Order: sequence, then structure tokens, then C-alpha cells
Amino acid sequence: MDDGWLRRALAAKRDGESLDGATWRRIIEGYVDGTIDDAPVAALAMACAIRGMAEGEIAALTEAMVASGDVISFGSLHPVLDKHSSGGVGDTVSLIVVPLIAECGVPVAKLSGRALGHTGGTLDKFEAIPGVRTDLSNEEFAAQVREVGCAIAAQSDRLVPADKKLYALRDRTGTVPSVGLIAASIVSKKIAGGADAIVFDVKTGRGAFMRTVADATGLARTLVRLAAHFGRRASALVSDMDEPLGAAVGSGIEAVEARDFLRGDDRDPRLSEAIFAVAREMLSVAGIARAEIEPRLLDALQSGAAYERFVRLVEAQGGSRAALDGIAAHPHRVSATAPRAGVVAAIDAVAIGELARELTVADGPFAGIRIVARVGTPVRAGDVLAECAGVAIDPQAVERAFTIGTTAPPARPLLETVVRDAEASGSANPASQW
Ligand code: URA
Ligand code: CA
Repeated sequence: MDDGWLRRALAAKRDGESLDGATWRRIIEGYVDGTIDDAPVAALAMACAIRGMAEGEIAALTEAMVASGDVISFGSLHPVLDKHSSGGVGDTVSLIVVPLIAECGVPVAKLSGRALGHTGGTLDKFEAIPGVRTDLSNEEFAAQVREVGCAIAAQSDRLVPADKKLYALRDRTGTVPSVGLIAASIVSKKIAGGADAIVFDVKTGRGAFMRTVADATGLARTLVRLAAHFGRRASALVSDMDEPLGAAVGSGIEAVEARDFLRGDDRDPRLSEAIFAVAREMLSVAGIARAEIEPRLLDALQSGAAYERFVRLVEAQGGSRAALDGIAAHPHRVSATAPRAGVVAAIDAVAIGELARELTVADGPFAGIRIVARVGTPVRAGDVLAECAGVAIDPQAVERAFTIGTTAPPARPLLETVVRDAEASGSANPASQW
């Protein structure tokens, strides 16, 4: 094969130039069909990570990635929404907002992933409900969104096959943390999934990819502008992931938390704040008038209609109302307690996420950790910091994830900022490098 063009492209990218759309298409096509091997693509990913990518280049890569596979269509149904979280601990938002937004009259087609490292995956949480399956074909997914108003499905291998291959390569080559490559990866999957409007929840803090608010806000802007390039309305929240979001951490007990939230049995204030922030943006990008948003959300929750929509979602995907009613945390409980008096100064979300993950692997999906003492809570020696459901847990390891200080730390806002499409496009500069 004459690969002079590829050598020239790599040299150009190495020297900080931008590659055009035709070159990106050729590279992605060749990589997916196997005529281009890992070595040049790994070098290219590293050049992108170090040199950055121009806005037009990110869009060109995203287009090439979308074109590598199927694109789902919902026919005449518009707008269809999707929501993406960059990965969190105790992030039960998707399971709750999907039926909630559907009940507010806006269809939601949610493509989700599995647990990765310390972060949970919506698919694992949803499948913890007995009978539920998420391996819907593209046709089943689209039909269910039309009939039930919402669906939560695993991304099939036919959507953006380029991303699967490229992500695995990036994972091996230290090139995951590149704003351009991350944005192309996330947005290509949302475009192929058929969404007309998208809300991104970019996490920041110790439990997140983007450690600083500035980095997370940069990614948020890139995501919104890239969505706009494809004619999609979008908002991106930047939210805190320094401590777990909801109280429950563990796939099955997060499903229990979602059920109880929708039923009105138990609504964790921090989780509630996140739910409302995401839900408002979803209705807003769907074109719902500002004044109507809050009343619709409150009515759907308070009337029990959002919960009934969740039951229909569960039933449509193989579960039942009885199965949903029956889910409960593992009956064996152990408490993690405060070793001394003070104030909870920090909770290590990564450690809690990893411990909960190990616990569910050993004791099944309904094992996990429930945070009792949030950051800022005063405690006496022996007070309960967290309840562990399951057998295979060392409560001392959970205790070590809590930092007990002498004074309350400065309060961190849950929601750092929201990037909205009008604002993001207003500052768009095609020549800027991310
Ligand atoms: N999530 C994705 O889907 N892709 C990335 O590259 C990073 C996070
Ligand atoms: Ca399948």
C-alpha cells in the first residue's frame, strides 16, 4: 500500500497542523477496515493529545466516526433527547430523569455504558432489576421510544465501531485525556444514536476525569459547540464529583434509590439538586418554555406519573412492577464508624466507588455502600459514617475513605456552571485550539 499520504498526515499533526476532513475520513475508514494498523493511529492520537485539535478538526473526526457505523432514526418523532454523564460515583441521575422527562412529554432515547473503573454504569444499575435487558436492537430501541416515550439501551456494536477500536487504543497509549478525542468519542455516539438535543453532565473533582473546574468547563464548551456543528441543541453542566453524588453507591442499591426517589419515598437532597439541574436543561434544549419547565417537573414527580412511566420502562424491557417492588439492599449490614470526633472533611469518591464495585462482584448487585455522613457533617467517635450492605467488606477500608477534620471545609457547589448553546456558539472561534 502507498502510505505516503499517511506519513505526511502524521508529520503534519506532529508539527501542530490540522488535518482536513478527507484525511480524517481516510484514516478512520482504514483503521476500522484493518488496512491501517495500530501504530500510525497511536502516534496520531498522541500528537492530538499533545498538540491539541482545532474546532474544525474535531468536527471532521466526529463526522468520520459517525460514518463508520449505523445511525438510528426515530422517523417523524422530534425532538428526541439523550443525556450523557462523564462518569460518576453514586450518579443515579439517568435512571431517574429518563422516565421523568418522558413523562413531561419529551421522548428520551438513552444510550448507556457499563461500569468503568470506580465509576458506575447505568446499564448495570438498570439490569439489576430482575428481568430487565438492555441489548435492544436499533429497531427495538426506536420502536420503544415511540411507544413508551423512553428507552435505556446498550450501544450496539454497529454504532460508531471506530470509537470502540480507537478508545481501546487510547486506553493502551495514554491518550484518553485529550479534549478533542474525548469530545469526538462522546458526540459521535450521541449523533449516531439519533438524538436531536443532548445534555452533557461533565464531572469535575477527584472522582472525575477532568480534575479542575477549568478543564471540565473547557470540555463542556467543546461538547456544546461540537453538538451545534451537527445542528443539535445542547447544554453541558459542570458538576462536582469530589464526593459521591447520591447516598447509594453500588449498581442494585442505586436502582433502589432511583425507584424510591421516583416514588417519593426517599429523596436525597444532593441527588435531587442534580436531578433538577439536569432535567431543567433537558426540557430547555427540547424547546419547552422556561415558565413551563418547573411546573411540569413537579407535577410529574408529585402526581406519581413519573414513577408509573418508570414502571412502563421496566416492563417494556423485560422486568415487571413486582420485580421493581421487590428489589432491596443485601440484608447483611456492617457499619463504618468515625474513629474520632470532628467534621467529615472529605469522602474519597474513587475509593468508595472501587470498594462498592468489589462488593457487588463478591456479593451480587444489591451489595454496596450507603453514605450516611456527608461532607460537612459533625460526628462523634463511633457515629456511623456509612452502612455497608454485603458480607465481603472490611468496614475499616470504608472508614479510611472518610477524612475527619476539625472544622467544616468550605462548601463546594454541586453545580459549578452550565454552558448553553447560544452562549457557547457566541464565543465560537473556528481557529481556536483546544
Ligand atoms: N467517555 C467516552 O465515551 N469517550 C471518551 O473518550 C472519554 C469518556
Ligand atoms: Ca445486541
